[in-house]
Amino acid sequence: MTGTRSIHNLALIGFMGTGKSSVGRVVADILHFTFLDTDHVIEARAGKAISDIFAQDGEPVFRQWERRVVEELTRRTRTVIATGGGLPADETNLASLKTHALVICLWASPEAVWERVRGQDHRPLLKEGDPLTRIRELLAAREPFYRQADVLVNTGMRSVREVAQHVLHQFHMAQSVHQ
Ligand code: S3P
Repeated sequence: MTGTRSIHNLALIGFMGTGKSSVGRVVADILHFTFLDTDHVIEARAGKAISDIFAQDGEPVFRQWERRVVEELTRRTRTVIATGGGLPADETNLASLKTHALVICLWASPEAVWERVRGQDHRPLLKEGDPLTRIRELLAAREPFYRQADVLVNTGMRSVREVAQHVLHQFHMAQSVHQ
């Protein structure tokens, strides 16, 4: 982190099923910040579900939506942002988030991710092939990007509240340094 950053938002990045939205909501509530989920913004703008965007328009169109939303986030203050799992795999997105937000990555093992997402069916990237193998491959490919977060928080064996407390602690520390 450089001393010139102005941290007035908090961005949660990390793989699908690591709890970004659940943790983000709790943190936003405690901080009295607005909560924003990039996937929800995209669905509202596109007028369709993420899985339909992938199926009808293709992944590149979804990634374009993500880049557009990330650009707009630079104008926000007092916002907790939960990002889609693939969003920080674009260096420009990650760099942009870092200009205004403390970027915290929620981390989980492939097995823990699988446990959390196996009952859900709204994630197009896990619909092809063996899901656990797919999770391992995607997580390995994305790890270098996730590791560029300001802080990495391991979510294994921790409740949403516990993870939220860690995130809040890191945010308060960063604010005392950067404001
Ligand atoms: C994706 C993760 C999803 C959603 C889309 C693509 C990914 O968000 O953006 O299905 O590339 O990992 P969550 O991480 O909130 O599940």
